[in-house]
Amino acid sequence: MKDLLRTNSSLHEGIEKLLNIQAKIESDASNKYLAMAAWLDRNGFANTADYLYKQAEEEREHFLKVFKYITEMGGIAVTPTVSEVQQEFRSMKEVFEIALQNEITVTNAVNKIVAKCRTENDYATEEFMMWYVKEQREEEKNARRALELFELIDENSGSGKFELDKEIAKIGAIE
Ligand code: FEO
Repeated sequence: MKDLLRTNSSLHEGIEKLLNIQAKIESDASNKYLAMAAWLDRNGFANTADYLYKQAEEEREHFLKVFKYITEMGGIAVTPTVSEVQQEFRSMKEVFEIALQNEITVTNAVNKIVAKCRTENDYATEEFMMWYVKEQREEEKNARRALELFELIDENSGSGKFELDKEIAKIGAIE
């Protein structure tokens, strides 16, 4: 049965597995941003909360995009389980440090798929993944800019938190 299914799929089994892992990573990323947005929201950072609510939606789209691609190519898209995500943070800065770390992890996973595509001569998936390569370049740049703002604005000065909330949210607005 498995072999028969394979004849309907142009996806290499190893690539299909990596794409399903990617789907889970994107789905987890959406939930992580959602928890960050809620933390920011309940701590008075309304602007950055909106920014990360939007990021959570974008990650959900990234998840769906790869999930549907697996089916389109005749593979089996596995609905990811929901993982526990961090709900509490020490500071706004910690939120954005973790956000950058997460984006780097996503980039590494994307690169791993592209490398595998090259060894398996799967040019269709490689071309599909280029969208993610570009997206990750942008998302890492934004996450780094957010952290850079903590160097420019003192979080512990009088209006520091208020300024950071405003300035970081602008990164999302100019996307
Ligand atoms: Fe879709 Fe930012 O990872």
